[in-house]
Amino acid sequence: MDDDRGLDPHADKGYTQVDDQPDPSFLVQGMEATARWPAVVQLRAWERDRVDLQPGESLLDVGCGIADVARSLAPLVAPDGRVVGIDMSEAMLAVARERASADGVAATFRVGDAMHLDEVDGTFDACRSERMLQWVPDVDAAVAEMARVLRPGGRLCVTDTDWRTFALDLDDVALSADLSAALIAMRGAPALAGGRLLNACREAGLVDLEITGAVHIWDAWDPDRDPAPSGFFPLDAVVRDMAAAGHLAADRAEELTAAVYDGARRGRFCMHVTMLSVFGRRPA
Ligand SMILES: C[S@@+](CC[C@H](N)C(=O)[O-])C[C@H]1O[C@@H](n2cnc3c(N)ncnc32)[C@H](O)[C@@H]1O
Repeated sequence: MDDDRGLDPHADKGYTQVDDQPDPSFLVQGMEATARWPAVVQLRAWERDRVDLQPGESLLDVGCGIADVARSLAPLVAPDGRVVGIDMSEAMLAVARERASADGVAATFRVGDAMHLDEVDGTFDACRSERMLQWVPDVDAAVAEMARVLRPGGRLCVTDTDWRTFALDLDDVALSADLSAALIAMRGAPALAGGRLLNACREAGLVDLEITGAVHIWDAWDPDRDPAPSGFFPLDAVVRDMAAAGHLAADRAEELTAAVYDGARRGRFCMHVTMLSVFGRRPA
């Protein structure tokens, strides 16, 4: 669709169909940027402590993307353990394989769908998934799949964003509220994944549950230098896709884009969102 959009990403598709984006490398760069967010660094450290991988263990990373985490965890299970990363996107996996090889890391990467893991029941000592569940049609079913492939006593850590917490401050608070509401309407139920994680893990029968969260704040953005706030989509593309899907009236969308870009150029940019992580075990 929309060939006239050139290399502009489809914000409405996000990471659901990375390989269908006009330029998947934009999303690869997005993953590199989000890996530097202090909130992501904090949640990954929390996960690493909880999951506590040991030599010889096996780890499955569902929706591994460019696999910076899978690659960093692989040495913990060496020399006899194994790390497997699965993702829907060949473009992401190509980067994951290339970087694992450059790092001298032994890990296996294959195409797979979180909704139907092609893995035997009770196989893995640990499973992780980060900021992937917000792109699947059914968060509970995907978490149940991850629990299924864990051995009894195996550990799961899932991390995701709750876009109900998304806010971009504008002088006109009604415009700001319209943006948050349209984002949820455009993305649908999966956008609430972060807030669903704890109950999804309960539903999957996991025990010893722990939960934590972290806020990412974008406190500046120069739209004349960077096409998008770090790790996000260009906001004009986001608003355009909201309007195209009928979640914003055309004139409201124009007003919103003008307010966002004008505020950012005046040094008034402030946007934030919360991510949550849940850890649990499959009963022994
Ligand atoms: C926002 S990225 C996160 C990547 C990585 N987990 C990280 O934190 O850097 C979301 C990833 O989930 C993948 N993805 C989306 N839907 C998926 C599905 N149903 N099954 C497997 N992977 C999926 C995308 O291709 C993308 O690589």
